[in-house]
Amino acid sequence: MGIAVSPQIHPQVAEFIDKPRKMLINGRWMNAASGKTFPTYNPATGEVLAQIAEGDRDDIEQAVRAARKAFDSGPWRRMTPSERGRLIWKLADLLEQHSEEFAYIESLDNGKAFNIAKVADVPLAVDMFRYMAGWATKIEGNTIPISSGGKFLAYTLREPIGVVGQIIPWNFPLLMAAWKLGPALAAGCTVVLKPAEQTPLSALRLGELVMEAGFPEGVVNIVPGYGETAGAALAAHPNVDKVAFTGSTEVGKLIVHAAAGNLKKVSLELGGKSPNVVFKDADLDSAIAGSASAIFFNHGQCCCAGSRLYVEKSVYDRVVEGVAAEAKKIKVGSGLDPETQMGPLVSVEQLNRVCGYLEAGFSEGAKAVVGGHKAGDRGYFVEPTVLVNTKEDMKVVKEEIFGPVVTAMPFTDPEEIIPRANDSEYGLAAAVWTRDIGKAHRMAEQLRAGTVWINCYNVFDAALPFGGYKQSGWGREMGHEVLNNYTQTKAVCANIA
Ligand code: NAI
Ligand code: MG
Repeated sequence: MGIAVSPQIHPQVAEFIDKPRKMLINGRWMNAASGKTFPTYNPATGEVLAQIAEGDRDDIEQAVRAARKAFDSGPWRRMTPSERGRLIWKLADLLEQHSEEFAYIESLDNGKAFNIAKVADVPLAVDMFRYMAGWATKIEGNTIPISSGGKFLAYTLREPIGVVGQIIPWNFPLLMAAWKLGPALAAGCTVVLKPAEQTPLSALRLGELVMEAGFPEGVVNIVPGYGETAGAALAAHPNVDKVAFTGSTEVGKLIVHAAAGNLKKVSLELGGKSPNVVFKDADLDSAIAGSASAIFFNHGQCCCAGSRLYVEKSVYDRVVEGVAAEAKKIKVGSGLDPETQMGPLVSVEQLNRVCGYLEAGFSEGAKAVVGGHKAGDRGYFVEPTVLVNTKEDMKVVKEEIFGPVVTAMPFTDPEEIIPRANDSEYGLAAAVWTRDIGKAHRMAEQLRAGTVWINCYNVFDAALPFGGYKQSGWGREMGHEVLNNYTQTKAVCANIA
């Protein structure tokens, strides 16, 4: 497979990555206290893209102090909800004005196709900020009729939870920053955000727009660095009131332990191994196209990827052949090439991890109808892959691969499919393809997953809550439900006798 790696770089982005990028603490751009920097790579070439200030314990300390001060005594807490909402809306406008530049940064740093980042990642991030800007003025408590003797006026207040630590992954770097910052700011919290070490650039550029929008100093602090150092220090910090994490289930468990010290609140959006169930009565053309995009969108680097494809036996061959044909058509290449539909994986670690899963699958008897290997001789490319001859106890069926690899399995009895689909420690998403609306909604009720798609896949909206059952996480992102992560309820009871 010939992989073209386009050399030209957007001029503003070239300027942005030319000098080592600093971290944002208390409204100022700072070097790391240690003076250290770390490299971020271009996954299409494996070359170093930029140097970034390497945040660690001391920088987290300073950032938390700034966020604490901004929360406890800064102008932020005196602002009206309407003023908060307007700032968030302004940030959305600025981001939209720089769409092209952000799509470029995402493509360079993460590897994803520029054309896709431009129509998906960036506008979804803009929309998230706008949706959350609207919520700033609508976070309400209740008046509660109570039945104790006497006469009382009782009501609840929903107050911001305080200083929030947010740790995000590399698969949708900008969008994850928006999912985290939007609701925290709408609720009136202050934030220390740690982007993933693989993809810190878009969050740092967003930090510049945060300052340009006019957020008071210390409200948003951004400290890039590694998970084991900066991330761990943030999760354990005694002055952080809440930590919100998106990433692996393994690290999610470490976050829970780290949070135990001061019992900070925790929300987690973790891994998945989502079942995608195709019945013989489905519109097979759309089920085939949808099942391919369920796994191949973002190179399979989606926590909700439809990675377990279950197909009713009588249409199994046709659907598997169809998905394989879709896989063959995908143009793999540098994200900056306008023809590219699938870029490289984010890092050499992920390349090795995904290739390791492929080898494990083959040694346990799986066969690739298409793909199955690394692609190209430079960069971190993997062929879109469809595996058959797979069984529930295989590693490739049980574990999250986080690459463009789907396992296909037939089923005969519609009754049998629910327990098989639910047979996972994860429960993030699931999909059903059928023309029988009763069956579709019965399935939706029985699938143990935070999202169920019917005759579609990967439909996201700022208004639609997203999150996991079982080991896929705690709490929900997006929708008004996410505000529960960033507020706490105070009950006030007044004797008015
Ligand atoms: P990870 O969970 O290690 O990284 C996610 C974030 O957590 C990064 O910002 C990282 O710096 C931070 N982190 C790592 N260790 C930490 C610690 N001890 N304390 C605090 N923060 C820490 O994920 P990684 O290693 O990049 O990818 C491994 C696997 O995780 C992937 O193959 C995939 O299966 C899963 N994953 C799931 C994601 C999702 O969207 N749910 C996103 C990224 C990865
Ligand atoms: Mg890790």
